[in-house]
Amino acid sequence: MLFPQKHTGADTTIFSVMSALAAEYGAVNLSQGFPDYPIDTRIQEFLAEATVQGFNQYAPMPGLPLLTEQIALQKNKQLNVAIDAGHITICPGASYGIFVALAALLNKGEEVIILEPAYDAYIPAIEINGGIPVPVPLNYPDFSVDWDRLRAAVTTRTRAIIVNTPHNPTGVTWSAPDWQQLADLVAGKDILVISDEVYDQIVFDGQQHHSVLQQEALQEQCVAVFSFGKQFHATGWKIGYTIACPAITKAIRKVHQFIAFSVNTPAQYALGRFMQQFPGEDSCALLNGKRDLLHRLLADTPLKIIAPAAGSYFQVADYSAWKDMPDTAFAQWLTKEAGVATIPLSAFYKDGTDNKLVRFCFAKEDKTLQIAIEKIKAKL
Ligand SMILES: Cc1ncc(COP(=O)(O)O)c(C=O)c1O
Repeated sequence: MLFPQKHTGADTTIFSVMSALAAEYGAVNLSQGFPDYPIDTRIQEFLAEATVQGFNQYAPMPGLPLLTEQIALQKNKQLNVAIDAGHITICPGASYGIFVALAALLNKGEEVIILEPAYDAYIPAIEINGGIPVPVPLNYPDFSVDWDRLRAAVTTRTRAIIVNTPHNPTGVTWSAPDWQQLADLVAGKDILVISDEVYDQIVFDGQQHHSVLQQEALQEQCVAVFSFGKQFHATGWKIGYTIACPAITKAIRKVHQFIAFSVNTPAQYALGRFMQQFPGEDSCALLNGKRDLLHRLLADTPLKIIAPAAGSYFQVADYSAWKDMPDTAFAQWLTKEAGVATIPLSAFYKDGTDNKLVRFCFAKEDKTLQIAIEKIKAKL
């Protein structure tokens, strides 16, 4: 039988490829974006409580009110904007949130601009939903937005722009002036902003996260997407949510109700109870410490940090002073020979742009980071 090719993405994502290679060679896995430390025991206890208390059947389609209300409170406090719990839709992970937003809002043949390097799920999600991805490169080496190029990429067919702050893979964050530029760019146009903010609770050096939800001018034309997997270091729980105005929320739910319908009830209960009992807890300090540790460890190696991560789980490093090979070959060599798995940055570009960079995930035990860099140093 022949099956349709719904997208141009890889058969197997680079994250699965590198994790499998790490397992095969017994390498320290700093490739995929998941923590190797345990989740908060209090969340585990609330999960057990949920099943005992009878939260075992379908949750309401938009999400458990206990959880959506806590999210609204958290966002109101964090961003100083009034978020209505009724505009929040719990979904099975942020990737699903982006996918369902595209499924709901995109017409066939419309263009969606992405800023590269970009999280690798965007292009397949656009294509599967009948859209045409339009990649625009971020400036190199600071990964800021090239506003002239972005403006030039907008056409009459542009339906959406996907932005991501804090950014995977670079850890770069958007400032208030960045948002102003984007608001000016889409003002008066039928262009949606899909804002992937899965690392919104992980920003460093005392900085604040700047969200699309704070941009008054964009409120009728944006969807913000978040992930509890990242917020609470429980990526395997696969729970996220969208926040959007009533019209966009209605369109998203119209699709969501026939795909997932609702999301794991005990996990929603556990997250809601945790946020209710322990509001205001975040992991900025924990992850800030891990970023700093990785910076200190890398300082003794030829791997250079060209743009320090301001948020997220990730730090990009330039290996060109050490090895002269393409980034995919370098990442494979590093896994097989040094025993450290990373992700080559070319995997985040549609055209495979190779600036001799690899991405390290530092959401790991300190010991894991130390062992990884010792292994690299042993190969110098
Ligand atoms: C930028 C970005 N968006 C979305 C996701 C997916 O999040 P989830 O696991 O909640 O689907 C990830 C996961 O790594 C990510 O890095």
